[in-house]
Order: sequence, then structure tokens, then C-alpha cells
Amino acid sequence: MEETYILGIESSCDETAAAVVKNGRTVLSNVIYSQIDIHTLYGGVVPEIASRKHIEKITQVIDEALREAKVPLERMDAISVTYGPGLVGALLVGVGAAKAIAYAAEKPLVPVHHIEGHIAANYIEYPDLEPPFLCLVVSGGHTHLVRVMDYDRFEVIGRTHDDAAGEAFDKVARAIGLGYPGGPKIDKAAKEGNPSAIDFPRAKISGAEFDFSFSGVKSAVLNYLNQCEMKQMEVNRADVAASFQEAVVDVLVERAVAAAKRSGEKRIAVAGGVAANSRLRAAMKEACEKEGLSLCYPSPVYCTDNAVMIAVQGYYEFLKGHLADYSLNAVPNLAVGEDRFGRACR
Ligand code: KG4
Ligand code: ZN
Repeated sequence: MEETYILGIESSCDETAAAVVKNGRTVLSNVIYSQIDIHTLYGGVVPEIASRKHIEKITQVIDEALREAKVPLERMDAISVTYGPGLVGALLVGVGAAKAIAYAAEKPLVPVHHIEGHIAANYIEYPDLEPPFLCLVVSGGHTHLVRVMDYDRFEVIGRTHDDAAGEAFDKVARAIGLGYPGGPKIDKAAKEGNPSAIDFPRAKISGAEFDFSFSGVKSAVLNYLNQCEMKQMEVNRADVAASFQEAVVDVLVERAVAAAKRSGEKRIAVAGGVAANSRLRAAMKEACEKEGLSLCYPSPVYCTDNAVMIAVQGYYEFLKGHLADYSLNAVPNLAVGEDRFGRACR
């Protein structure tokens, strides 16, 4: 069989990334330039700085990905790129670079949905994973329960009504003085804390059993911190981190397992930055074993933003013939299951 090589490009937030993947499953290179150190100074991502850094780094990162893969640009079958959702200025840098390369090297241009890319990260280390399966997508901007019906067909069966899970991690981390990015810092601090020390709320949405809400738990943490301050009580940050994390993880696991049981899916995948959380991984494993469901989650490096996942999803989009022309634009608020022409589902 002819090998198919895809160059993937990702620049939707604060990582400038490029990767080469063979036949949709074999990683030949994975280059990530993280801007985290710069944004840490401001306590979060500054969009204008992100765009400028992407411009500075994108060509270098793409060159490095091709060099590391030892496959020349001429041999690529297509160029895939994240076109949404994300920060518009950041996305435009990747889309612009991909269009320029596709034009100059006369290669097909494949637009990839960032969240569908996160889901596709699961194909890398689970060679037998194929749709259909259920995916819990938990990132900085998204919390969704998605039925993956085919490589390019998605049905959202649950979503957050307010904050995304990662956003809640970041806000709580900031409130307890752990800094940015909050998720990994809470994960680490929680290891020293007692998850039952404080009883934070686990929100249920009436009439929408697979939906989420994390603004309540976030406010409960802020109230707790205020009360401690008023009573001049010392705050045990590890206990707050562990108890908050436990509340979020409980809800994610409970709803994902309930959704799998309802939809009849035997396999659950977890995706997005929060999928790197060690407590979520352990709790999902335990729950899935108990319910006889099989579980997959990517290695942490493929959970957070990277371009391998964009090349993997790009491969399947390419096989389905979902190509773009040079009018491709960034779509910052693209919804899951919505394609580049704004249709509800493919
Ligand atoms: O998927 P991602 O890299 O970017 C988006 O598409 O949003 O996710 C970033 C989010 C951030 O909110 C970050 O705090 C969270 O993922 N995150 C974690 C962990 N690692 C990253 N949250 C909890 N535990 C972690 N270990
Ligand atoms: Zn992401």
C-alpha cells in the first residue's frame, strides 16, 4: 500500500506546533513551541502576544517537523491545519502558513476542527480504536460528551452550560495562588491534599442529564477562600485543590459512564488538556473497569495542544475528500460537529 504523509499545523491558542504523521497513525515528528512562559507573566493567554509569537515561530516549527520526520515537503500528500475554534489572530497564522505551503508546493489543503483533532489524538496509541465510541472532551475552552459515529461524524450529547472544565481548573488555581496554567498545578498540589476535606458542590442540570456546569464549584471555592479570610483561618491549598479536583472529576466520570450506558457505547475515550489530569485518568479507569467499558486516553503530550492530532484527523478528512480552497478562513467560534460551511452536522 502507498504510504500517506500528512503535515499538520496547529496555532489555535498558545502552542505553535507542526507534525508529520504516516497513514493517520504513525507519528514521524511532533514539534511544539510552547508560549506558556510568556503568558505566565500575565496570568493567562494574551491573544495579541500569542499571535505575534506564532508569526515568529511558525516557519521554524514547520521546518523542524519536516526535518525530524525525514520526509520532504514534496512527499507530503496534504497539509492539514486547525481553522477553529480558537483565538482568531492565532488561528490566522496557522491557516495563512498552511495556505501558503499548500499553494507553493501544490498540495491539497485540509481544514481540521481543533476539538475533532483532540478526539483523534486517541487513534495514535490505540491502533485498534475505530468509531463508533463515546468521547469525553475536556479542554480549556470545551467540555463535551460526543458520540463519534465516524471519523468525520460527531453528535454532541452533553455540554457545559458555563465554564469549561479546564477553565474552572485555571480560575481556581489562580484564586489559590498557584498561577497559570492551573490544571497541571492543581493536579500536582492535589496529590498532597485530602479530597474529602471540603465538600464542594457537584452540579446537576435538570432535564439535561449529560450536561455540565462548573461555575457553581468555582464560586464555592471562592466563597470558601473568602470565609477563611474573614475568619482569619489559614487555607490549606492542597486540600482545596484536592477537594475541588475531586468534585470536578466525580461529575465528569459519572456523566461519561451514564452517557455510555445510555447510548450503548462500549468504549469511552477521553480527550483535551484536562484528559492529562492524573485523578481523572485514575477515576475513569476505575469506573470503566467496574462497568465493563473499555477506556482510552492519549499520553499527556497528546492531550494538550499539539499538531500530531491535527495531522491524524487531517488524514481521515483527506480520505473523505474534505478539502478547502485558498478562501479558507479562521472560524474562532466553530461548534463541535459543525463543518466549515456552518452546517449542523456532516
Ligand atoms: O486542550 P488544551 O491544551 O487547550 C484547549 O484547547 O483549550 O487544554 C488546556 C487546558 C487548560 O485549562 C489546562 O489547565 C488544562 O487543560 N490542563 C489540565 C492538566 N493539564 C492541562 N487540567 C487538569 N489537570 C492537568 N494535568
Ligand atoms: Zn486544545
